[in-house]
Amino acid sequence: MHEKFRNRVFNEDVLKVLKSIPDNSLDMIYGDPDYNVGINYAGKNYTQKWNDYIEWYIELTKESMRVLKHDGNLFMMNYPKQNAYLRVKYLDEKAFNVNDYVWIYNTNVGHSPQKFTTAHRSILHATKSKNNAFYKENVAVPYQNPTDKRIMGRIASGQLGRMPYSWFYYDLVKNVSKDKTFHSCQIPLPLVEMLIKSCTKKNDDCFILFGGSGSELILCKNLERNYISCELHPEYYQMILDRLSNGGQIKDEYRIQSIVDKRNNCIDQPLLFEELVNERKTCLQRACLLHNTTITNNSNY
Ligand SMILES: C[S@@+](CC[C@H](N)C(=O)[O-])C[C@H]1O[C@@H](n2cnc3c(N)ncnc32)[C@H](O)[C@@H]1O
Repeated sequence: MHEKFRNRVFNEDVLKVLKSIPDNSLDMIYGDPDYNVGINYAGKNYTQKWNDYIEWYIELTKESMRVLKHDGNLFMMNYPKQNAYLRVKYLDEKAFNVNDYVWIYNTNVGHSPQKFTTAHRSILHATKSKNNAFYKENVAVPYQNPTDKRIMGRIASGQLGRMPYSWFYYDLVKNVSKDKTFHSCQIPLPLVEMLIKSCTKKNDDCFILFGGSGSELILCKNLERNYISCELHPEYYQMILDRLSNGGQIKDEYRIQSIVDKRNNCIDQPLLFEELVNERKTCLQRACLLHNTTITNNSNY
């Protein structure tokens, strides 16, 4: 990857940046885009008509596949329907291989009397050749029965454990977590860490397509992987730069608590208060709409 991209975050549209990167140049690409379900990112909403969204998602993936090395790995996280469309309308035909993994989590939103509660996301894993880099030793899960004769043989021959299954359980990042910023939708870091370690080694180049809270970029830095990323929203972009320059710390101003404090300080200014809580309120409402339910007091979205 060209030095002008390495370990840089751009306050630009990700497609624009992707288009300026040469073919076959990155080891890993990981995308956690807006899912087109009405989530509000600090006041900005990216929702489009379904067909327009899918066209955009396909173009994003097409460009990502172009810049991926022949032995590279692409991961795209989304809700299952969005990823199903991407798979059928583009990836299955163009990629050498596609696997669909599932991230499952507990949730207290989205409950409906008419259906089972959605509590999973899809992660599409696409490769360009049969020789994709993959490092089982980086992610192996300890054997459950280490005293079994066959397993003892494997351990003796240096195997560290079994390959993880295609489903992953990780808790959502709770609002009270020390890792939580005011970003609307943070992905749990142990999940992303497993993806990064599965297919990269130190000094490899990873394009984290959407910067978001910056947590995944700090993770790359800590794991000694090079990153490149884009974040359109200026507030998130600023938080990312701050966090990258201070070892990943989350200043108080980037925590949800600061929104609550500001609310308490502007009790006589309901309009200002409305602006401050708008992001989380819309997020909740859309999630409830999506899941055909109502907001409950203990919602923790
Ligand atoms: C789902 S969030 C990513 C969250 C991230 N995975 C994390 O854990 O912090 C998507 C992010 O992409 C940003 N975004 C949306 N469209 C974009 C675009 N076209 N180019 C760059 N950033 C974009 C949004 O502002 C949002 O912060």
